[in-house]
Amino acid sequence: MAAAGVSLAFRAVRGLPASAVGQRGARLSTGSARGFRHAASFRREHDAAADEKSTHFGFQTVPEGQKAERVYKVFESVAQKYDIMNDAMSLGIHRLWKDTLLRTMNPLPGTRLLDVAGGTGDISFRFLEYVRSQEARRRRREAQALQTPSWQEIANSYGPGAPGSKECRAVVCDINKDMLKVGQQRAKDLYYTTGLSWVVGDAEELPFDDDQFDVYTIAFGIRNLTHIDKALEEAYRVLKPGGRFLCLEFSHVSNPLLSRIYDAYSFQLIPVLGEVIAGDWKSYQYLVESIRRFPDQETFQSMIEEAGFFSVQYHNLTGGVVAIHSGFKL
Ligand SMILES: C[S@@+](CC[C@H](N)C(=O)[O-])C[C@H]1O[C@@H](n2cnc3c(N)ncnc32)[C@H](O)[C@@H]1O
Repeated sequence: MAAAGVSLAFRAVRGLPASAVGQRGARLSTGSARGFRHAASFRREHDAAADEKSTHFGFQTVPEGQKAERVYKVFESVAQKYDIMNDAMSLGIHRLWKDTLLRTMNPLPGTRLLDVAGGTGDISFRFLEYVRSQEARRRRREAQALQTPSWQEIANSYGPGAPGSKECRAVVCDINKDMLKVGQQRAKDLYYTTGLSWVVGDAEELPFDDDQFDVYTIAFGIRNLTHIDKALEEAYRVLKPGGRFLCLEFSHVSNPLLSRIYDAYSFQLIPVLGEVIAGDWKSYQYLVESIRRFPDQETFQSMIEEAGFFSVQYHNLTGGVVAIHSGFKL
């Protein structure tokens, strides 16, 4: 099942039916100023929901214990068509947003990335591509600087063991094994045979030790979680001191005209596209609704600060349709 050099580790995952992680019959448990005001009210709402043991699933209120399972079913249902739908829904713009995330990260050779809710691997593939192309450029410059290089020197400077070359590694972690399987197949098709591993795991209880990663990314994943605060704490825990948290997520559009166009587009067109392309209206309706339930840029910034991160900043892309939040563990 695994592509050469790519491993898929299955872990027990909180709150999901056994069938969801491929071990039927077993009950699963894990082995494992404005911004502040908004954050406080978001927490109050959230705490109230927790007290009543209910939360939101899109625009519906559901028992808290059901949300993870429902989200799981959404991504189980869309996994095969997920990448096509991303291009169709965003007219390809999600690629530019993801490229911007990588430019913001600007990773160096040797970086260890954890991509949580990594799905079909888009961020990790870009990460490997980015580091390797930077490395190749550096080696080309060095080879050009050699005045009369022998063929052996040129070959050495391009090889995997080239002086100064450090292997970068990405771990794609997602709760949904169907999304990961699609990602693994893509990795195989795109010849990403090294530097990549696939782990089934829950963002709220990550199956990794403390202080392991240089960068933690979560792209279009955090709004699906039941307890965002727990996921932020986990991000902080697994990052090394000096490590960086980066989140790419749908956010709030402040321009009223753009907001109206965006609402019309997302509520009226996206579920239709979901039905036509993936035969699944409901899942795409949930995805649109979940975007509207996600806290705004400043509220989310405060939540990241409350998890302990420093120098937390965000920048909007496409007028706030999405935002990149960044913070550091000191
Ligand atoms: C919209 S997809 C994003 C995939 C990928 N990051 C991308 O940008 O294309 C959201 C992903 O979050 C995953 N997810 C949802 N809840 C999760 C959880 N509790 N822990 C880890 N992943 C989760 C889903 O399985 C799905 O693959």
